[in-house]
Amino acid sequence: MIRDTLNRPLRSLRISVTDRCNLRCAYCMPEMDYVWLPKDDVLDFEEISRLVDVFCSLGVDRVRLTGGEPLLRRHLEKLLSLLSAKPAVKDLAMTTNGILLAERARELKSAGLHRITVSLDTLRAGRFAALTRRGGLERVLEGLEAASSAGFSSVKIDTVVMRGTNDDELTDLIDLGRRLGAEVRFIEYMDVGGATRWRMDKVMSKQEILSVLARGAGPIEPVLEETSAPAQRYRLADGTLFGIIASTTTPFCQTCDRSRLTADGHYFTCLYSPSGSDLRSLIRGGASNQDLAEAITRIWTSRIDRGAEERLAMRERQALAEPGDLRKNPHLEMHTRGG
Ligand code: GTP
Ligand code: 5AD
Ligand code: SF4
Repeated sequence: MIRDTLNRPLRSLRISVTDRCNLRCAYCMPEMDYVWLPKDDVLDFEEISRLVDVFCSLGVDRVRLTGGEPLLRRHLEKLLSLLSAKPAVKDLAMTTNGILLAERARELKSAGLHRITVSLDTLRAGRFAALTRRGGLERVLEGLEAASSAGFSSVKIDTVVMRGTNDDELTDLIDLGRRLGAEVRFIEYMDVGGATRWRMDKVMSKQEILSVLARGAGPIEPVLEETSAPAQRYRLADGTLFGIIASTTTPFCQTCDRSRLTADGHYFTCLYSPSGSDLRSLIRGGASNQDLAEAITRIWTSRIDRGAEERLAMRERQALAEPGDLRKNPHLEMHTRGG
């Protein structure tokens, strides 16, 4: 297993299978127009599968498919079958917005997906429509129901908490999670690329989230466990578990073993990296698996990233990128890098 300059192993690979999305969430895609990755640049399943083999030979054993919205990628189940057949992939997960999940949950499970995380920020239809600029809350709720009865080893709900937007729904979301057997994770609003309307005063910190919940849901105790970064988990008096991902105020960079592959084969070793490495050109230029392994080893062993820690140390913290920067370089977008 290879390690970076801070002794962090390469373990978790997040693969964005498409940069397209069928929602326009305010914290991720608030603009009116986007520059999309050229279709011809998008890796095919064979290319992705080959890269996963190389990554696994270097230590990766957890793979998560992300987007954009991964269920927009045609025949995704085929990719899942390829990946789930690899003994080195011990954990195969996906993050989806749930809009297309109801009709796909069973197929995804049969194709070998182990775990699924559904993004859901509000349970009020009007709010959902405003926050996502597309609507479809009912479909997401049906998707969650379908996922919770499809037999996944875990179903989670990811909620980005934004002050003044959904911070009055935290206990309702926990109630939904309890009913479905899905663990809710509250995520601090992050100043990633794409979040062009980010402001520190809209961030609800972990401490604030905990005090709102203590008022609404009663006593909370932290779950003591070996760091399951990035979420810190908590337990309510009735045993219900939930998590908080405090990447904005309490970064987990020191133990970050994640890296990301974009749909067009650019490799990023930090969510905040200004640029990535173009593995597509290597693979399409005839590189062998050995060549690819050497390239990835060079990148990982020289990795110094501590993006979220560096952002925390800034005095005047503002949105990471301007809309103009994002149009010039769509690789800066969260929906291109995968959430
Ligand atoms: P599990 O494998 O279930 O623990 O998933 P996870 O904890 O990796 O969660 P998930 O992939 O659903 O990511 C949840 C959220 O955590 C993301 O949407 C981001 O907001 C944040 N996050 C994920 N990866 C990173 C990362 O590499 N760095 C930072 N700073 N935040 C991240
Ligand atoms: N802050 C926090 N999380 C974000 N995501 C996207 N943009 C942001 C942001 N600005 C994450 C959310 C969402 C997933 C797809 O990406 O967790 O559920
Ligand atoms: Fe990892 Fe970068 Fe996120 Fe820190 S900011 S946790 S190094 S991806």
